[in-house]
Amino acid sequence: MSQKSENVVWQPQSVTRQQRETLNKHRGAILWFTGLSGAGKSTVSVAVEAALHERGILTMVLDGDNIRHGLCSDLGFSETDRQENIRRIGETAKLFMESGVVILTAFISPFRSDRQIARSLVPEEDFSEVYIECPLEVCEQRDTKGLYAKARKGEISSFTGISSPYEEPENAQLTLNTDQLNINECVEQVIDYCTKNGIIN
Ligand code: ADX
Repeated sequence: MSQKSENVVWQPQSVTRQQRETLNKHRGAILWFTGLSGAGKSTVSVAVEAALHERGILTMVLDGDNIRHGLCSDLGFSETDRQENIRRIGETAKLFMESGVVILTAFISPFRSDRQIARSLVPEEDFSEVYIECPLEVCEQRDTKGLYAKARKGEISSFTGISSPYEEPENAQLTLNTDQLNINECVEQVIDYCTKNGIIN
């Protein structure tokens, strides 16, 4: 997005990220969930959030369907709108991360380049891509929101996996196959990852 703001300067802050993290007694971090609609991003992210909260970790979940009611209610599903959606989420995730929160984002985020832009906003070790992998046939069979059926009938245009592409991650930090793992196993793997990577103790 082009920079339209002119004559703006950075204002100094009085509390550093490190001081916030010391207060919170843990690091801030971004867990970026990506995958097809119906793959389980929302289900896994809220279950992981509950498990982290139980361990005394400050958390927040940003979920595509919810955020599109507010912050991104002006955006649709064209390539440029999705790009802007993910740009805003990347910036928002960064703010939460810098406040010392473990932020979980659950967006299809279908384009590699957009996920890369979100990643590039923060230090490498603060951004973990979690691929919620599930075959399209299984997502379509689940069709929890009835959207795949509508997309097949041509009632929804540019539907990811049907009439709009999903670019699989090439270097995700963690991949969870939700057609093979149950929810507890998924949560266990994310918590294990967070422990091994010093996000939680
Ligand atoms: S993203 O592509 O920009 O990352 P996002 O995660 O915010 O998408 O929103 C996806 C959700 O919007 C889906 O889970 C689904 O409920 C709904 N949705 C509505 N129209 C579409 C569409 N054309 N493609 C994908 N999801 C859609």
